[in-house]
Parts: sequence; C-alpha cells; structure tokens
Amino acid sequence: MKAIASTKKQIIHLPVHVAIVPDGNGRWAEQHGLSRLAGHRAGVKIMRSMIEYLNDYQIKYVTLYGFSTENWNRPEDEVKGLFRVLEERIGKDVPKLHKKGVKVRHLGRLEELPTWLQKSIKNAEELTKNNTGMTLSLAFNYGGHVEIIDAVRRIIAEGIPSEKIDEKLFSSYLYTAGLPDVDLLIRTGDELRLSNFLIWQTAYSEYYFTQSLWPDITKEDIDKALLAYSQRERRFGAL
Ligand code: IPE
Ligand code: MG
Repeated sequence: MKAIASTKKQIIHLPVHVAIVPDGNGRWAEQHGLSRLAGHRAGVKIMRSMIEYLNDYQIKYVTLYGFSTENWNRPEDEVKGLFRVLEERIGKDVPKLHKKGVKVRHLGRLEELPTWLQKSIKNAEELTKNNTGMTLSLAFNYGGHVEIIDAVRRIIAEGIPSEKIDEKLFSSYLYTAGLPDVDLLIRTGDELRLSNFLIWQTAYSEYYFTQSLWPDITKEDIDKALLAYSQRERRFGAL
C-alpha cells in the first residue's frame, strides 16, 4: 500500500481524457479454463471499479472500447453473448455511476446493434444527461474508419462548402463531437496496436501498454499508467 501512495504522490500532471482498450478477456478465460464469454463477463464486471477509480482521480473524460466494427467477425455466439453481458452490466452499473455524477454517451453506429441493447444505451444516456461529472463514452459498434466515413457523409449531405472544412469543423462531425482529444490511451493484454480506435482523436496521445489481461487489471495498473503519463513531456510537434 505504501508503494501505491508514493506512486500517487509522484503523479503531477493528470490527463483530461483517458481512452481504454480493454484487451485479453479471451486469454484470461483460457488461463482459467473458462469459456470466452466467462472472460467477457469477468472483464465487463470489473469495469465499474476502474471507472470509479479514474473518477476518484477526477479524470473528466473516459472512453471505453467495448465492441469494434471488426468484432462482428467473431463467432455469432460470442457476439450475442457479449451484447447480453454489456446490456446486463449497463443495467446494473449505470445507476451507480449516475449517483456519482457520471454522464454516459455512446460512440458508434448505434442503429446496427440489437434493439434491446440500443434501448439500454439510450436509457443510460437519458438517465445521466444532466450530470456534470465525468463523461463516460461507450464505444460499442465503433470503428475509427467508419466514424470518418460517417462524418464525411454528413458533411456532404449538409452541403458544407469545401473551403469551410477545417480540423475544428471536421471534429465536430465525428461521434466524439465536443470531447477533447485523447491525452492517454491505455491498452491491456500485451498487444501494441490501436485497432481502429479513435484514430483521429489519438493523433497526439500518449500510449501506455501493459501485459496485464483486462480481467486482471488493478488500481495499481491505473496508477502506473497515470504516473507514466505524468512523467512524459508532451511537445505536440514543437521544440
Ligand atoms: C477484449 O478481449 C474484449 C473485446 C474485444 C470485446 P478479447 O476477447 O479480445 O480477448 P483476447 O484478445 O482474445 O484475449
Ligand atoms: Mg483481443
């Protein structure tokens, strides 16, 4: 515990926006002789305690990669099961997060998700819409490429003249409109890639990769990620 306290003391600069790629549920399940779905259940279950821990740090924006547009390529049973698990957890956890002032929003193509999951996400957004604490963005059926395509389609549909298109305007057509760019991206599960997550918004992010599988993630891992971030010097291309 002493070590954690001293890690915390060394964290001087906190990120405003933390994005998380929770990877390793399947491998965790395999290690424990369980089904992949049991791995997802374990992973989604510990999500709230990590969100609350980031909330204790007063991180203002947290964005989670729950289901990517590429995850549809997994076996149907796994996809369906994962949706059920997500829906179940939203029902259980969002009221608790609501009490902490967390505002939930969805990023991605909502209309392609099962209607019962859409409903649960919309209810969460509705319940928390007036909250002023942390903004928790849930990227379900999210893909960085389709996000850009959807933005371009809307810009064209609205007849925006090309000379009006700049970075600020373009950002405002992304699912993440109104959110600041990502400061720190954390990926668990020992994979060193972005996997089509927030490709526009992470142009200048700091990355933190850990070998921990997501269901094994601890508060100490979060402390370490925040400490690593705090110790980096960000120059955004300047000297
Ligand atoms: C991450 O765990 C959860 C989702 C992508 C939804 P994985 O299911 O990718 O776990 P591994 O990579 O197979 O261990
Ligand atoms: Mg994976």
